[in-house]
Amino acid sequence: MRVLQLGVGSVGEVTARTVAGEPEVDKVVLADIDEERTTEIAGKLPADKVETLGLDVADRSALVRALNGVDFVINGLTPDVNMDLMDACLETGTHYMDMAAAGPRNVVGTADLDEEFALDGAFKKKDLTALVCFGIDPGASDVFARYLYDQLDTVERLTVFDGDNASADGYTFAPAFSPTTMVEECLMLPPIAFENGRRILRKPLSHSREFEFPEPIGKLKVWNVDHEESQLMPMFLAGKGLRDADFFIALDDGWVNLLLTWRNLGFDHNQEIEFEGARFRPLDLLVSRLPKSIDLIGKLHGHTCVGTLAEGTEDGKPVRRYMYQITSHDEAFKKHGVQGTGWQTGVPAACAAIMFARGLIRDRGILAPECIDPQPFLELMTQHEMPWHVIDMPTDD
Ligand SMILES: NC(=O)c1ccc[n+]([C@@H]2O[C@H](COP(=O)([O-])OP(=O)(O)OC[C@H]3O[C@@H](n4cnc5c(N)ncnc54)[C@H](O)[C@@H]3O)[C@@H](O)[C@H]2O)c1
Repeated sequence: MRVLQLGVGSVGEVTARTVAGEPEVDKVVLADIDEERTTEIAGKLPADKVETLGLDVADRSALVRALNGVDFVINGLTPDVNMDLMDACLETGTHYMDMAAAGPRNVVGTADLDEEFALDGAFKKKDLTALVCFGIDPGASDVFARYLYDQLDTVERLTVFDGDNASADGYTFAPAFSPTTMVEECLMLPPIAFENGRRILRKPLSHSREFEFPEPIGKLKVWNVDHEESQLMPMFLAGKGLRDADFFIALDDGWVNLLLTWRNLGFDHNQEIEFEGARFRPLDLLVSRLPKSIDLIGKLHGHTCVGTLAEGTEDGKPVRRYMYQITSHDEAFKKHGVQGTGWQTGVPAACAAIMFARGLIRDRGILAPECIDPQPFLELMTQHEMPWHVIDMPTDD
């Protein structure tokens, strides 16, 4: 299988390196607007399996040329390009995978999940598969939800909890993944939640609580933010009595205060603003003051945990079961030369791509992580140094 890795940032590097180790993959083409970075990452892949390409994804004809002859494209860019890329895949007959789909499009110009699913018929008609939202969260978190769903007799609530206790050398604010995506999902996009069996929209940064993450992280304050799982889990896992689905991420007080101040100043959007003759977009301005994900390589110290809590019943008894994955930023750097979030996101994406390459995913159309067989995916995660765990939590919490 010939793979095009589009975007070799923090996540794309890990996905490309992991996929290149798969015998079913003959070639990995690394494409990025930053051509130097493709050359740097190419040096970490087997020389006989790698090619590089400087590519601006906004250049449609160059994109179509890059996709021609490619079996499977892995989208490691920000989600605003998803729809154009999927459209190009339909033109060139290329199977597709992405790691995020924020929405709705009219808020900040990102692609909406519903819009991706609307292409189901078009992909099926062309005998193509599009794997959407295959990172750690969304991605592995949804596979965890499906795994727990299959175990339990009833599932009333599914909640994803993401907690990172890392500090970053030299930075006060340091989102561990794409800062654009981080600001969009925390501040700009109203979180979609599934509450009492209905899809609702909340105000950004309006809901918080505490969650006891497994050791060595412990208790952290978590906030409800816009995330794909709140839409995906009710779409595919509602059959056992689901009433509520949510996503919470740990955010430190300084970051929340910064975002709330930004909102109070009227900057929680990305429309162009004029100030004393200069024009700027508030999101772009804030992001320009934050480190890029790759700037944090070797500078993050601590752990990141992503997991899904299923609340329901088993054999007539109440159950609160949490399935999770913990990655150490320090170990990810020591062993693989990357930061923990890049590792934790890039490996599950690669596991899905490997399943596809091995013929373990044969369905066509738009497939969410809830739609694939969890077992081989989880086995691949373990093989690729991403162990996961399942614990029962007290039912009286
Ligand atoms: N599902 C998850 O768990 C999860 C977690 C983290 C990140 N993500 C998603 O993964 C994506 C990548 O995150 P990241 O942290 O690797 O970001 P990153 O900023 O490190 O990487 C993005 C790469 O895209 C390249 N790029 C930017 N514009 C381009 C263009 N016009 N043409 C070609 N290349 C271009 C950049 O040079 C960079 O190398 C983001 O969309 C993020 O939302 C998903």
